[in-house]
Amino acid sequence: MKITYYGHSCFKILSPEGKKIIIDPWITHPLAPKDIDLGPYDYILITHAHGDHLGDTIKLARTAVTEVVAIHEIQQYLLAQGVPKATGMNIGGSFRTNSLTFTMVPAMHSSSLPDGSYGGEACGFVITLENGESIYHAGDTGVFGDMSLIGELYQPKVALLPIGDHYVMGPKEAAKACQLIRAPIVIPMHYGTFPILTGTLEAFMGELQKYPFQPKVIPLKPGEEYHLS
Ligand code: NI
Ligand code: MN
Repeated sequence: MKITYYGHSCFKILSPEGKKIIIDPWITHPLAPKDIDLGPYDYILITHAHGDHLGDTIKLARTAVTEVVAIHEIQQYLLAQGVPKATGMNIGGSFRTNSLTFTMVPAMHSSSLPDGSYGGEACGFVITLENGESIYHAGDTGVFGDMSLIGELYQPKVALLPIGDHYVMGPKEAAKACQLIRAPIVIPMHYGTFPILTGTLEAFMGELQKYPFQPKVIPLKPGEEYHLS
């Protein structure tokens, strides 16, 4: 399994059997690497409708080779925009396809579409790959107690967690989230893209020191990848 960070909240995941997944495909942000894979992807997952997450979905989802997976309200919006293949789901459910499982989990955030209308609830995803390993993408969220339930039910090996503060968890909250989720590997996201996202990797590592459970933190710069054996 290979995880490539494209900056902000965007990750590409290459599954053990070669399926290409992209999450929150905003590939035109200020720190975006030049060599982003433009697909076609097998799946595009969207955590919520804010522009920095819905991002360049319409451009990347141009053919029915690519299936967009999102909450019902975003799916309806994308179909109306001419996206050929989009599957709607909702929080608590799983979509099983091609030996992959996409489970939609809660996030504490808001969500509105580009036209200002309601974008459904904000969510996170647990992606369970063909080999049974899971990755949790928290989306935009504050810390919440039921993160422990996500950890207990899906036992993610990797958690992708926002640390940038202001709109999402800051370092203090993200360190607590690690204790609740208990994923052995954590990749920080949603920080440094704009000045207002003040949470830093250093502050996050400092907050983590205060706790007994120490996940392995893998800081990736936009364009860097992580191989999980
Ligand atoms: Ni947001
Ligand atoms: Mn965001």
